[in-house]
Amino acid sequence: MATIKRDKGLDNSVKVMKQGYLYTTNQRERLGVTDGVFETRALGGKRIIVLSGKDGAELFYDNDKIERSGTLPKRVVNTLFGKGAIHTTTGKVHIDRKALFMSLMTEGNLKYLRELTRNLWFANTQRMESMDQVNVYRESIIVLTKVGTRWAGVQAPEKEIENIATDMDIMIDSFKAIGSAFKGYREAKAARRRVEDWLEDQIIQTRKGKIHPPKGTALYEFAHWKDYKGEPMDSRLCGIDLMNTFRPLIAINRFVAFGALAMYENPVAREKIKQDDDYAYMFAQEVRRFYPFVPYLPAKAKVDFQYKGYEIEKDTMLALDIYGTMHDPNVWEDPNEFYPERFKDWDGSPFDLIPQGGGDYHTNHRCAGEWMTVIIMEETMKYFASRINYDVPEQDLTVDLNSLPGYIKSGFVIENVQENVDRT
Ligand code: HEM
Repeated sequence: MATIKRDKGLDNSVKVMKQGYLYTTNQRERLGVTDGVFETRALGGKRIIVLSGKDGAELFYDNDKIERSGTLPKRVVNTLFGKGAIHTTTGKVHIDRKALFMSLMTEGNLKYLRELTRNLWFANTQRMESMDQVNVYRESIIVLTKVGTRWAGVQAPEKEIENIATDMDIMIDSFKAIGSAFKGYREAKAARRRVEDWLEDQIIQTRKGKIHPPKGTALYEFAHWKDYKGEPMDSRLCGIDLMNTFRPLIAINRFVAFGALAMYENPVAREKIKQDDDYAYMFAQEVRRFYPFVPYLPAKAKVDFQYKGYEIEKDTMLALDIYGTMHDPNVWEDPNEFYPERFKDWDGSPFDLIPQGGGDYHTNHRCAGEWMTVIIMEETMKYFASRINYDVPEQDLTVDLNSLPGYIKSGFVIENVQENVDRT
């Protein structure tokens, strides 16, 4: 049996945090790994086998060999996803509840999402025109909070939007708690408590018939859903998973800022987005592939098995290298080039473009909102390319791959925003 190459050290957590998205690629290069498999110790010295590449992703989503539940760091569950959230479920409970999430992805709901995104960005133009400078990261979190709450059918008064957006941002950022102590933990828990209280109340009010969200909205469907045993969800848990239909939608603001940067650095691409909806789609996909967001996903071996000649024992911890897989030269030609056209002939494999996880939507933990993300990105990029003109002042546009989570240092600031109107 072959021996897995190893990044020595009793606990490499600090190194992981310091090298960020490049940790895995750095180790593979240093150790001479060619099959995408190496071993490290992190999270308090636990032995972890890191899987990368298409084969690695395929193994990771094999439910016969891999167990996901119980592997997410507790702190991330407490702040980012919520206790008992779908991400933490397994087997029949997962498949049952996932069907509820996926039932929201109807043609009508997705079409409405596209319209909402287009309209709410457009409606925001006047506000951006009146601002000296617009921080795209911050502005898009507010627009997306409006899109997300409206799409989900929850009642969010205009005056609360900024507060909700801020709480969501704090929760989303809390995934940096993966490796080490994280100063914002209490703040993130408090933000979660506020939003959970609000959404639990919406569930209770809906069940009592005091508020009337339209049928087909997330609020209506979650409030009235019964699980495979015929039981409704506990109201707190229901609020938590209701949040999981639109908190991550608000996180798309990170892709929006990256997309605006990509357009600035590739003016030709900006012109193409104006003229071609297919190009806007390819651009959205390339932004999701190219820029750093989710670094790794955790799992453990469900049984003893062999992989690429290595013996992997039951309960061994595994990590899927998300960023590394999307920059793997064995999978992507010139992976460090931003090149939307690569998606012209892409075969739609569930195991290579995995910014939101991979595998099957219904039976794996693959992101329920991936189509929503692409739609929001297409419409938002089209808005920035064609509906407004703006200047990009001098600022720090660094995207530091050595720090988690990934950001543009400045957030991407624009100024002199003006609606683009052909008045001839
Ligand atoms: C799961 C990323 C947007 C809902 C996931 C996973 C990732 C992810 C990495 C876990 C995959 C796995 O464990 O195998 C993202 C990113 C997004 C995004 C980067 C965009 C910025 C959305 C949106 C929704 C959503 C718009 C709205 C419905 C979910 C849900 C799960 C999930 C419900 C849990 C699925 C399950 O456990 O079966 N997402 N997501 N996400 N995402 Fe997203």
